Parts: sequence; C-alpha cells; structure tokens
Amino acid sequence: GADINKLKISEQSGAPIIAPEIYGHFSEHLGRCIYGGIWVGEDSDIPNVKGIRKDVLDALRNLNVPVLRWPGGCFADEYHWKDGIGPKDQRPEIVNTHWGMVTEDNSFGTHEFMRLCELLDCEAYIAGNVGSGTPEEMMDWVEYLTFAGKSEMANLRRKNGREEPWDVKYFGVGNENWGCGGNMTPEYYSDVYKRYQTYVKNYPGSRVKKIACGPNSWDTHWMEVLMRNCRGKMDAISLHYYIMTGSWGNKGSAVDFEEKDWFKLMDNALKVRDLLAAHIEIMDKYDPDKSIGLYVDEWGTWWNRQPGSKPGFLYQQNTIRDAVSAGIFLNEFNKHAKRVKMANIAQTVNVLQAMILTKQEKMILTPTYHVFEMYKHHQGSELVNSSLEARSYSLGGENLPALNVSASKTDNGVYVTICNINHQSGEKISIEVEGRDIADVSGRTLTANKINSHNTFSSPGNVQPTALNDVQIKGNTLSLELPAKSVSAFTVKQK
Ligand code: AHR
Repeated sequence: GADINKLKISEQSGAPIIAPEIYGHFSEHLGRCIYGGIWVGEDSDIPNVKGIRKDVLDALRNLNVPVLRWPGGCFADEYHWKDGIGPKDQRPEIVNTHWGMVTEDNSFGTHEFMRLCELLDCEAYIAGNVGSGTPEEMMDWVEYLTFAGKSEMANLRRKNGREEPWDVKYFGVGNENWGCGGNMTPEYYSDVYKRYQTYVKNYPGSRVKKIACGPNSWDTHWMEVLMRNCRGKMDAISLHYYIMTGSWGNKGSAVDFEEKDWFKLMDNALKVRDLLAAHIEIMDKYDPDKSIGLYVDEWGTWWNRQPGSKPGFLYQQNTIRDAVSAGIFLNEFNKHAKRVKMANIAQTVNVLQAMILTKQEKMILTPTYHVFEMYKHHQGSELVNSSLEARSYSLGGENLPALNVSASKTDNGVYVTICNINHQSGEKISIEVEGRDIADVSGRTLTANKINSHNTFSSPGNVQPTALNDVQIKGNTLSLELPAKSVSAFTVKQK
C-alpha cells in the first residue's frame, strides 16, 4: 500500500459540540478506589483536604474532570445511602458483598462525595439503588440532595451540616440490572425503571437527568426493548463496554503480554465504532431527534488482577497499550458526539483502567492519565470532519488501520488527536487542513520503548508525554512521523 497516511480536516455543517462529559470518570466503593485512593480521612498523615487526598485531587484537577459517577457500579444496587450520612461514629458497618467481602464503614458518603465534586468543580452523577432498594429510598435521596425548602429529608441534610441543596445533574436508575443489579430481563427492567423513575423528582430549581440502565456491550435486544418501552421517560441510556484479550475467566495480563495481544486489544478497541453504530441505529429508530443521550458510563480495559493484590479489588497496572486503546475510545466518542453525550472510564484510582495508582502516601500517574490530560482540549469544542486514508497495519495475516483520529475546533485552532496503533514502526502522515495556510503546529506525543512500558512507584516518569518534533508545514498541509505505539495531540493554528 501507500507509504504515507493521509488525513483531510474540514468543517462539518451541523457538527455537534463534544460534550465535556465524554471525558468523565467513575469511582466506586471497590478495592482502593474510594478508600485509600481518594478518601484517607481527616486524621490521616497523608496530606488531605477534609479527608480527600490532596495529591489525587490536584492530579484530577489537572484533567478538568467534567463529571464523576458514584457510588457504583455493582455497589450502587446494594448501597443504602442513609448509612452514609450523619456523625461518622454512628454510621453502620456493612459488608461490601460484591467486592471482596470487606467491611465498609460508610465514612465516605453523600456529603463527602458532593464535597469531592465541588473541589473538582465537576458535575455529580449519582447511581441509585434499584436492585435492593425501594422507590421510597430513591425518592428520599433525591429530596435530601436537591430540595431547597423544608421537609423531613431537607431538614435532615441541614442537621448534617449542609444548608443549601446540591446541584445534582445526573441520576442513574440502577446499574447493570441485567446482572449484578438484579438479574432482570429487559422487559421486566423496563417496568421497574418506569416505576422507580416516577419518584426521581425535579424539585423547584432542580433538573435531574434520569439515566436508564442500558445494555452490556453487544446486547442490542436490551437496547431495543428499553428504547421501545421507556423512551419518553429517560434523558439517557447507559452502555458498558470493557475490553480484554482473553475471556472473562482469564482476561489476560496487564503487563505480561506479547505482540499478538497488543494487536488483539487494538482490534477490540476499534470495535467500539461498530458497537456505537449498532446501538445508535436502534436509538435513531425510536428517537430520530436524538434527544436521548447515550452514556458509555463504564468502559476500559479489564485485566487479571495484579499478582499479589487482593481478590475482588480489581487492581491492575496500566501500560502504553492501555493508553493507546483509551485514545481510540475517546476519538470514537468524539466522532459520535451527536449521540454520545457522556462516557466514564472505569475507574478513577487503583481500580481497572485507572488514571492514578497509589501506595500509601505515594501516587503515580498512569499512561492513560496522560491521554486524558492531552485530550482535555476537546471538551466543549466543535467536532470537525477528519477523513483518514490509513495504511494498514498487519500481524499474523490480519489487518487493522494503522491510525485512529479525531479533531475539533477549539479557541486556539484545530485540535487533532491521533493514535498510531502500529507497535512496530513509526507512521508518516500528511494532514491537509481546509482553509487558510497553517501558521504553527504545537503539541505532544505519548510513546514508550516497549509495548508494555508503564510507570511504577520507583520509576514514575517512565511513560510521559514529550514535545512533538519535526513537523513540516507547507501551505495548508503539515506532515510528520508519528512514533510507533503512540498517542499524539496537537493544535494547528491557521494564518
Ligand atoms: O467497574 C467494575 C464493575 O464492572 C462495576 O461495578 C459493574 O457495573 C461492572 O460490571
């Protein structure tokens, strides 16, 4: 094939704005995500802001986190929110039956979570309990959170130290109700959803978006039934998509893998295009005006737990391979921004494809963190058309496009993010940007020496972005070579 990749960037009429929420996060009461990763308590020796780790807070602030989903995950459908309010010494201890059978002391609850959102200046996305909770319990939570007037719940909130209601923009009515959230059929869940959502009220001055539990990966039947039965009663429907190279029983190792596993993960990451297309097609049939959002509220890589780590804690390392796969997902979410209005990578700290790993007082940033940091300029920008003629990248007789890209129009110019999937060699690309001549290109690249390079507590800067070099500019075209196994992000300024 051709020895150079070609990309043409042009404005799209009626192009969507990339919802900032596509760059959202998810933190569950699971393993060391909340406890140890985010929450250490006010009495900790680890520097903290009202119990929240300061190092983690600062690192997350640098990502411009738009929205945070909590408290689960599977934990959400066994969480009784009233356990997590009031004086800490009076909060009950419960068993986290889903994640390691550990004791949950409820020291991190509603007030602590809402404070975290305030400190991050992000929207709150609360997942309510359908599986083991009642409509009354759900109704009470929304009233406690958002009602400004006098009522039993609002008064209880005040008694617990919060006068004003919080601004809660997103409320999930159950999580994975086809599995850990109650093992329901889509027909049954549709009715349950309609019942529970009735009691998620909009109190004066508050407008809570209701999210129905959507399908697991390729379950288009679930999407079909939910859209048919509930479309008038939901603001969004969720989708979960985890990738791995093995099976659910043996998912593959996060760091001990071969070239073929690199290729396989890239293939699975690129399938997100077909996955989104399949669900969007069904949504378009029932909701042609696209008023219902598709929220990919759990996504990412899922590996066998790190040897030596606790079962049920889902602790895994994170390599350049994870980073490139994240870059692909985010590019695809951007390009489907007409329908994809939120996405939440699983999970923020110490769990699955984390941004941050901690070990007591130490903290490291993962390669995936750097991708989120490099992509943050897409948040709230207008999508532009990026038409790519990519070379093919082959291994063992199979082919994939070598590159994956998206672009948007920011205040500073056109912002381009490109993943070079090819683990073996650099890829040359020429990029034509419609309109005026190019004045300047600046940006960064994230790459690494080996396919499994990652950051460790002794070598935290092993994988980190460096300045983009050797960009040639001619008229409205630029050319450069993207390093093997890399994610690049840059601004193109026109004259
Ligand atoms: O993110 C870990 C778990 O994956 C979540 O709790 C659940 O919703 C999903 O199965």
